[in-house]
Amino acid sequence: MKVNFGQIGVGYWGPNLLRNLVANPDCEVKRVVDLSEDRRNFVSTNYPSVEVSEDVDSILNDKDISAVIISTPVNTHFDLAKRALLAGKHILVEKPIATEVKQLEELDAIATKNDLVICAGHTFLYNSAVRYVKKLIDSGELGDIRYIYCQRLNLGRIRSDVDALWNFAPHDISIMQYWLNEPNEFEVSKRGMDYVQNGVDDVVFLNILYPKNIMVNIHVSWLDPLKVRRITVVGSKKMVVYDDVAENKIMIYDKGIDHIATLGERMDFDRTNVGQFNLRSGDVLIPKIDWQEPLKVEIEHFVDCILNGTKCLTDINHAKNVVRILTENSDLKDD
Ligand SMILES: NC(=O)c1ccc[n+]([C@@H]2O[C@H](COP(=O)([O-])OP(=O)(O)OC[C@H]3O[C@@H](n4cnc5c(N)ncnc54)[C@H](O)[C@@H]3O)[C@@H](O)[C@H]2O)c1
Repeated sequence: MKVNFGQIGVGYWGPNLLRNLVANPDCEVKRVVDLSEDRRNFVSTNYPSVEVSEDVDSILNDKDISAVIISTPVNTHFDLAKRALLAGKHILVEKPIATEVKQLEELDAIATKNDLVICAGHTFLYNSAVRYVKKLIDSGELGDIRYIYCQRLNLGRIRSDVDALWNFAPHDISIMQYWLNEPNEFEVSKRGMDYVQNGVDDVVFLNILYPKNIMVNIHVSWLDPLKVRRITVVGSKKMVVYDDVAENKIMIYDKGIDHIATLGERMDFDRTNVGQFNLRSGDVLIPKIDWQEPLKVEIEHFVDCILNGTKCLTDINHAKNVVRILTENSDLKDD
């Protein structure tokens, strides 16, 4: 059985979703809506069989359409998502689904009542490299996770509808929540600065303290000389660097600092706290990652959730914790 789709928004990111929808044999794209005539022309030129419109109701009132993809600017998500759910559609909404936790709770209530799927477009959870690191952490190969830091930097693409935090950090927060098994408890602090546009932070350092003293630092910026997409995980046994723009996306370092047990007065080896350490520096492993386009996997999963009732990996609870972390604790400079 095919799922009939409508898509709202086909600007910079929307075409990637549309391409994957059209390529999926279980999906039929009936209509794409965009306010911009240019973007509608883009769709008509590249996908002549897909209808276009500037009217969102042409999707919402179409009884043949059961699922809607929303890829519009963040400040429009909540309203469009709510309208789509009230019209009885399953929704896949680009990240972040909304800007307030209470909005997500409202969407959740409508979806639960009407047995509808909400999938958040937290693409990185459908990324093979991210999933590989999750398996490494879950298997215990890295030992206890000590701290993780994420760098998502570049010169541009500068926006004015959201700041660098809301544009980039949802990805890293989503990955952290996934890797650490969706903790509901965390302490958050952040500091950002608006150098280019008044009131729109170009660079933000976000710090999260999770249970068991796992410390996470997320550095996002569109005002940086280099394109960096790197996450470093420091475990008690091994360390991993996941570099999304490198050819070798994952490097596993057998490195660490171990206590050297010294002979105690009672002729045992229990004195591990006397300050002797072994700096271990062993092999570096570059695992082979079987690559699949994350959006292809994401859309297949969304369809599976609709047709088979599978629990969505990036469901409303996942989305809610991402927004909690984004909104918790105000920017230090505004205090
Ligand atoms: N998952 C990812 O890796 C990723 C990457 C980039 C962007 N995004 C997300 O995708 C979403 C869109 O970002 P973008 O960069 O494509 O933005 P964009 O501004 O380039 O495109 C948005 C499009 O939506 C249209 N639009 C706006 N309001 C509308 C409405 N009410 N009805 C119909 N059309 C409307 C605009 O005309 C535009 O064509 C954002 O939520 C962003 O966070 C996700």
